[in-house]
Order: sequence, then C-alpha cells, then structure tokens
Amino acid sequence: MSYTKEDILEALKSVLYFPKHDSIVNLDMVRDIRLDGKKVSFAIFFPERDEQNENIVRQAAISAIINNVDTEAEVDAEIRFPSDPLARIKNIIAVASGKGGVGKSTVAANLAIALAKQGFKTGIMDADIYGPSIPLMFDVVDAKPTVKEEHGQQWIIPVEKYGIKVLSIGFFVDSAQALIWRGPMASNSLKQLLNETEWGALDYLVIDLPPGTGDIQLTLAQDFKITGIAVVTTPQEVALADARKALSMFNQEKIRIPILGLVENMSYFTPAELPENKYYIFGREGGKELAEKTGVPLLGEIPLVQSIRESGDDGAPITLDESSPVAEAFMQMARNIDNVIKERKL
Ligand SMILES: Nc1ncnc2c1ncn2[C@@H]1O[C@H](COP(=O)(O)OP(=O)(O)O)[C@@H](O)[C@H]1O
Ligand SMILES: [Mg+2]
Repeated sequence: MSYTKEDILEALKSVLYFPKHDSIVNLDMVRDIRLDGKKVSFAIFFPERDEQNENIVRQAAISAIINNVDTEAEVDAEIRFPSDPLARIKNIIAVASGKGGVGKSTVAANLAIALAKQGFKTGIMDADIYGPSIPLMFDVVDAKPTVKEEHGQQWIIPVEKYGIKVLSIGFFVDSAQALIWRGPMASNSLKQLLNETEWGALDYLVIDLPPGTGDIQLTLAQDFKITGIAVVTTPQEVALADARKALSMFNQEKIRIPILGLVENMSYFTPAELPENKYYIFGREGGKELAEKTGVPLLGEIPLVQSIRESGDDGAPITLDESSPVAEAFMQMARNIDNVIKERKL
C-alpha cells in the first residue's frame, strides 16, 4: 500500500495538543514529513519544552499513523523545540542610512572593531544583500562558513576575524542575482540567515543594513528585537534629507526601533600630513543640527581621511591601528553608542 504526505497529515489531524485546544496539524506543528517504503518520519515542533505532553503527543501520533494509514508502518516521530539563536545576544545594533555611499559599511565595520577592542564579544552581520562589502573590509571574501548539524537542524558557523564573528549574505548569495529578487525574497533570506546562525553568546551584534527603508528594514523591525539603530549620514543637504526620512521611518508606530542616534561621516577632510587642519568640504555641522532638530544624540563625527578608505579596501579597517588618530573617532563613537544603550536601559 502506498500513501502520501496528505494521508499522513489527515491521520495526524486527530492528534491534539491539549494546551492549545487544537490538533497538531491545525497548529502547524508537523514538519519534515518523509516517506520511504514502510518508513514514515516527521517532526513535531513544540512551542516550548513540555515534558508532560511530549510523550503523549508522540505516542498519539504514532498510533494515528498505524491505526489510520498502515498497520505495518515504521513510524519515527521526533519532538523538536524552537531554539532562539539570538537569545544569547545582548544587544543588536543596526547601522542604517537614507542613501548609499555615505559610509554605512565603513561605520559598521569600525564600530564592530571598536566594540571588540573595548572588551565586548562582538559579531557583525552584513545584511546588505544588494551590495555586501563586509567580506572585503574583513578580508574574508573567499571564506566559506561551515555548517554543523544539531538536533536535526543545520547551523551556520560564522567566520572569525580580528576576534569578531563575521557573517555576510554575500557568502551565500551572488549580489548580481539578488538584484533581481523581489523584496519578500530578500527579506526571507535574511530572516533565514539570522535564524540559522550559531552566534553563541555576544554582547553586541552589529548589522550593516542596505541603504534606504525597504523590505529588509521592515522585516528586521518586525521579526527581530533590535536594540537600536544608528543612522549614518554625510553633512551635505541631500544626504541629510534622506537621513531625516530614515529617522522618521524607523520612528513610525508599526516599526518603532529605538533610534540610538546619528553618525556624521565625512564630517571634514583632514590631510594625513596636516592633521590639525580641518576642511569642511561638505558643509559644517549638518549632522549636529539634524540631531538637535530631531532630538536624537550625535554619536560620532568621523573625518574624511584617505586611510579610512584604504584600510577598508585592504581588509583591515583603521580602528585596528592603535597609532591612528582616526581610530579614536570610531572608538569614541562606540563608547557613545554603548552609553546610550546603558543609560536608556535598552
Ligand atoms: N570617513 C571616510 N573617509 C574616507 N573614505 C571613506 C569614509 N567613509 C567611507 N569612505 C569610503 O567611501 C566609500 C563608500 O563607503 P561605504 O562604507 O562602502 O558606504 P555605504 O556602505 O554607505 O555604501 C568606500 O570606498 C569607503 O572606503
Ligand atoms: Mg555598504
């Protein structure tokens, strides 16, 4: 006698999960049904550990198959529980920007390094599906994260570099291919990546978001508990206008991620040989004014310096270099962010 997954589901409709007063099928607890000759296997996902009911449900499920589908079936019913891989991460900081090219990835990478230098266990997740640049900045372009299997589930192990756990959507998805994805597909792949990675215990996970305010940002806001968001801008009016839009989007009722503040990047230009000289080529204090007007803290003012770009391109961001005066700007930004989180008890 041959039977289908539908036959299995039909039979399991009679199995109840008492605490929720419904059948395990209606509650969508049955997953991964596999059929192979007389062998029937499936997993039953419990919302939480429930020793009393685990065995009752498992036995009832096995009986349901034997009694209603095939008396000779060899049934393997595995009980599983959700594991929340983000549960051991104390703070998740998303780095966002209204527009691209303002230095979001540069700020995210240097923030992660500064936090790690300040003694925090840190990870960085590159969620910029359309233009992932964290692998380049951490010199792990060819890295292949390993996968381990535990309790029937596969877990991605992030790559480690400079004492930081690094994961990029670019390790898995070709960005040229991602460009033709519709929003929901991009969101799904990000969700999957966040949910299936073994980050372990972290004080900080820094997420480098794609620019703007699209599906990815919405997904993160709605499905994950983000501690707060840092918005990166440059001082020109056009960038500030986009930053303002981003600030108001993250503030909306249905999103509501706490805004940690604004980071002004490329605040002024300093030539390496004349570090005392500051040239405000994109205008002066635009970030500060926007922060004041919108009532958010100014978390940092990062100068425009050739070595910031070079160190990023070389895969060893400037904050790794203790002798660099620019590193101090990023270290201060990291302290400010940590302070905002602690003061507000986020
Ligand atoms: N403060 C800075 N000084 C010099 N170059 C910078 C600075 N910030 C960013 N850059 C450079 O500008 C370019 C865009 O920065 P990136 O961080 O990739 O921006 P985004 O992630 O917002 O698109 C990169 O080449 C980067 O090295
Ligand atoms: Mg970027």
